[in-house]
Amino acid sequence: VENEHRYEVKSEFKTSIVFRRLNLAEPPYPMHGPLDVIFCRNVMIYFDDQVRRRLLANMFDILKPGGYLMVGHAESLTGMVSKFKTVVPSIYVKA
Ligand SMILES: C[S@@+](CC[C@H](N)C(=O)[O-])C[C@H]1O[C@@H](n2cnc3c(N)ncnc32)[C@H](O)[C@@H]1O
Repeated sequence: VENEHRYEVKSEFKTSIVFRRLNLAEPPYPMHGPLDVIFCRNVMIYFDDQVRRRLLANMFDILKPGGYLMVGHAESLTGMVSKFKTVVPSIYVKA
């Protein structure tokens, strides 16, 4: 299609990538750590506070110490990310 942008991951990284569909509102999550970084942008906007808190706790647990969580700029996680240290708005670190 004209003007369609396509990207391809370099072959040396392809073996490290796993695509899997998961429902982040329903634990257990089949995610394995420890992870350096989690990008979870504009997904928690659909969840209620209870589901958000549970997911954030799980993401905290599977991050490495010093690992980063990146969320969407418009996401309000005030009062729910107390275990994380805020780096800048929407970027948190597991201190
Ligand atoms: C606004 S889009 C954000 C997409 C992308 N993360 C970004 O920043 O451009 C919201 C995404 O949340 C996903 N989503 C909604 N509910 C979900 C759930 N229960 N579990 C996993 N993903 C979910 C949708 O499939 C959709 O891809």
